[in-house]
Amino acid sequence: VTNEELYRPNFHFTPKSGWMNDPNGMFFYKGLYHLYFQHYPDATVWGPMHWGHATSKDMITWKEEKIALYPDEKGYIFSGSAVVDVNNTSGFGSLKNPPIIAMFTYHDEVKAKTGAIDFQSQAIAYSLDEGMTWTKYKNNPVIKNPNLKDFRDPKITWDAIHKQWIMVLAADVETKIYRSSNLIDWELASAFGKNLGVHGAPWECPDFFPIKVEGSTEMKWVLLQSINPGGPNGGSATQYFVGDFDGKTFTLNNSFTQDLNKYGALWLDYGKDNYAGVTWSNVPDSDGRKLFIGWMSNWEYANKVPTKNWRSAMTIPRELKLINTDGHYRIVSLPVKELDKYISKTIKKELLIIDKTTLVVDKSTVNMSRLEIRFTLNGLKDDNYDFILSNKENNAIHFGINKKDKYFYMDRKNISQTSFSDEFAKKISKAPITSDFNSIEVIVVIDKTSIEVFYDNGKTVMTEIYFSDKPMESFSIAKANSDFELKNVFINQLKF
Ligand code: FRU
Repeated sequence: VTNEELYRPNFHFTPKSGWMNDPNGMFFYKGLYHLYFQHYPDATVWGPMHWGHATSKDMITWKEEKIALYPDEKGYIFSGSAVVDVNNTSGFGSLKNPPIIAMFTYHDEVKAKTGAIDFQSQAIAYSLDEGMTWTKYKNNPVIKNPNLKDFRDPKITWDAIHKQWIMVLAADVETKIYRSSNLIDWELASAFGKNLGVHGAPWECPDFFPIKVEGSTEMKWVLLQSINPGGPNGGSATQYFVGDFDGKTFTLNNSFTQDLNKYGALWLDYGKDNYAGVTWSNVPDSDGRKLFIGWMSNWEYANKVPTKNWRSAMTIPRELKLINTDGHYRIVSLPVKELDKYISKTIKKELLIIDKTTLVVDKSTVNMSRLEIRFTLNGLKDDNYDFILSNKENNAIHFGINKKDKYFYMDRKNISQTSFSDEFAKKISKAPITSDFNSIEVIVVIDKTSIEVFYDNGKTVMTEIYFSDKPMESFSIAKANSDFELKNVFINQLKF
């Protein structure tokens, strides 16, 4: 096997060749999910940005399409979003053939090199063929730079409550909120976040949307706000905020302010490899889901990971929900249900008492790079519960629940390839345990080069990539000091 195919995931999106970072411009239309992405087709390191493009019927199996947007004399095409302009508010299409409007940042690298700081501005493009080809608007940019070095990543949402388009933009140390009636003329409505959450580096790639609180009719607004560096385990990560929006201003919910005072920030994913993620637009009300995908890498080492002809994958797409637990709002995320369609066989075990290190599945039963493992543990004490993916070469990933010291963790130190970057496996990644439980369900999605762990119905998520020359072959659970019960384990083999 070539190095390229050795590390290419089985079911996570990767570009055929060249560099990829952030997901961009995601929208759903006429049965197709569109995914654009920051792309440099000519090398496997970051460079002059294009928007690559892929389409899928289910967000799992992707077809890479032609490059959607090329850099031009106004600059590189940085991150942004796309919406279906159903009522043709922009006038670029018709009611019969609604235009798709993409909004992106022009990054003028030539100007940046002169030492000027106003080199990022916002621009639009439209498509009249359902996102396949694009025309850049002739009067770009539509939002000029207000003399801010970091001014980028516009994310548009149709605000059905106030009947307006809104757009959020990462602007230095805050999120700027704009509104528009036609997607061309934008008015600055407010700014959010200057002294809230984690700072110390530019905010990037925001997303802002209304979402129903699970099990109620209450509506809240959620702001996703990526930051690099500043993540809980180093490098890039995405924090979130929950509050209310009056059509102009986003105000944090009181309990969320308390949560920030207590934890500093709340993170969508505590692993090292889920960055710049945003949600799909135009998902029909009849579906009603908030569908999310993130870039499964980290700027600490993204340019150095040991793949050859391509670089970076996306996370498994996830459904985001907002829950209220005892007055505190939390985003939970789980893999989209479309993944279930690919389950070819389920091996089910029940009621194992774990009193020694227990091999749950071995090589003969599964291909550990196309797998979902769901298990529930009962009778947990203040102890450490360690789960291990390993192979005969003694490569291992450990993840688990340190209930004694109150954190979930992920440890990829013992995987063959780590030396390409000092940051890659320097430390064990941790996520705080903030509630008490003695029973927990864990869902683990395993591909050739990634592991995504969803604890407790997605209340805590940890996503990390790894590079192993031989596939992981077995899954075991290590003995803790106290016995506990593996209530059930479902090994879902996936077939693509
Ligand atoms: C985030 C980011 C964005 C920018 C893009 C450039 O990863 O830095 O802020 O638009 O990548 O590729």
